Amino acid sequence: MNASTENTAAGSLMQRLKQETAAEHERMESLMQRSEAFASKENYAQFTLSQYYFQKDVEHLYQDPAVEQLIPDLDVRGRSEAALQDLADLGLEPQQQGIFTAAVSYPQSLGWIYVSEGSTLGAAFLFKEAQAKFGFSADFAARNLAAYPEGRAVVWKRFKQTLDEADFSPQQQQQIIEGALQGFQRFGALLAQLKDLK
Ligand code: HEM
Repeated sequence: MNASTENTAAGSLMQRLKQETAAEHERMESLMQRSEAFASKENYAQFTLSQYYFQKDVEHLYQDPAVEQLIPDLDVRGRSEAALQDLADLGLEPQQQGIFTAAVSYPQSLGWIYVSEGSTLGAAFLFKEAQAKFGFSADFAARNLAAYPEGRAVVWKRFKQTLDEADFSPQQQQQIIEGALQGFQRFGALLAQLKDLK
């Protein structure tokens, strides 16, 4: 069986990613609620710090030539710079801390990038909340939640297509899914820290 027929038999990589990380996504939504990130500007600022650290972890992976080759539009992705500017608006400066993904290699790294790119979809709701509650915008304090200039759906669709067309072997797909689970773990831990949540 070649990779394409296996894709059909077991579902595409993107279908697998969605299905096999669904419980983690649910956990994120619950953690987001319990972290009370929108209860005050102070909480929101701490949440933005989590976004910043996670984006730094993910963007570290962009430096790998294998990632660069697979995803040609990396320059439009990533939100650490936006988060850093938001933090400045909010009067916070990130503490220096290590990169969590230093030991993550290709293709596991693609799973981390999947988590980051997918999170731009849910961020649409968070952006609206930041606008409604605090009057923040794509130019002030909520840049990191704003849509990419081309629009969320377009950039997401292109990412999905890139990953599916790469025709990864089942073993590689498994590594990518493991990377995604690690990414969710990392972001979950950052959220949990906000309120000492378990
Ligand atoms: C209140 C918080 C959140 C809400 C309401 C939310 C909502 C959503 C929605 C509506 C989608 C699109 C589903 C679809 O089109 O099929 C989505 C996709 C996704 N979200 Fe979230 N999300 C939230 C938090 C997060 C967080 C914190 C992360 C990770 C850090 C995350 C990662 C993802 C991923 C990876 C996808 C893509 C799923 C796929 O493979 O299609 N989300 N989210």
